[in-house]
Amino acid sequence: MISLHNYLCACSSCPKIFFEQVANRIFELGLSRSFKEDIVPRNLKMEYPKTYYAKFNNESYKMLRDQYNKNKDNILDLYLLLIYGFNRILRFNSKGDFNLPVGNVDFNKNVVNALETYFKNVHLKTIHFYNFDYKEFINMLAYKENDFIYLDPPYLITFSEYNKLWNKNKEKELLDLLDVLASSRVKWAISNLVADYNKGTHNEIFDNWMKKYNIHEIKSYYISFNNNKARPTREVLVTNY
Ligand SMILES: C[S@@+](CC[C@H](N)C(=O)[O-])C[C@H]1O[C@@H](n2cnc3c(N)ncnc32)[C@H](O)[C@@H]1O
Repeated sequence: MISLHNYLCACSSCPKIFFEQVANRIFELGLSRSFKEDIVPRNLKMEYPKTYYAKFNNESYKMLRDQYNKNKDNILDLYLLLIYGFNRILRFNSKGDFNLPVGNVDFNKNVVNALETYFKNVHLKTIHFYNFDYKEFINMLAYKENDFIYLDPPYLITFSEYNKLWNKNKEKELLDLLDVLASSRVKWAISNLVADYNKGTHNEIFDNWMKKYNIHEIKSYYISFNNNKARPTREVLVTNY
């Protein structure tokens, strides 16, 4: 993931070249490209009205995946696997091979818009990406006035792979660290899910703790990986400034 970000940041100085390289590779592989043109045959759309992208791209996608697994230095190929892959996830097997099946998705105008926004945001900035335990990372930095930390920790009350390793003790440890940072006048913001009214779950630890800071309600529906029915939840952004 970090190599993808480094690659995209480097491309931000010349998005035109990036989009040309993307278009060339997509054409070469024969993948669909709705951001430029619609090449999916009408009969395929009629036969598979909801899954025609997956049907159309399957063979080209497998070719892309095979080629990437033989040459893992090709980051553009990894980016395309992410865009055309199942649920836009990165997943590798124990041998380190990318192993997701094709998704029912496409390089569409939303992807182009998201990339253009990304390029605008990262261009002319020096950004370093790290992969550390948050405590290690936070403690290794020397804070200056107006520094800012944003945290999006695993949610204690929802299910996902990374939430499995999160528990009440870890939640408390994180909140204690935020208290210490607040007393050192470091600015931070943290997002979390406080309650899921349909499931009847409530993150009491966070709910009690956040009352001493500024609470901003987020109007959104949490879309779960396992259940994409919209459900009412209380999601907040808490800040110490
Ligand atoms: C709610 S998700 C964040 C999602 C992210 N903001 C995004 O948009 O993709 C929580 C993340 O915390 C990570 N995480 C779990 N324990 C951690 C730890 N001790 N240190 C740093 N990150 C951790 C998980 O791997 C997961 O990616």
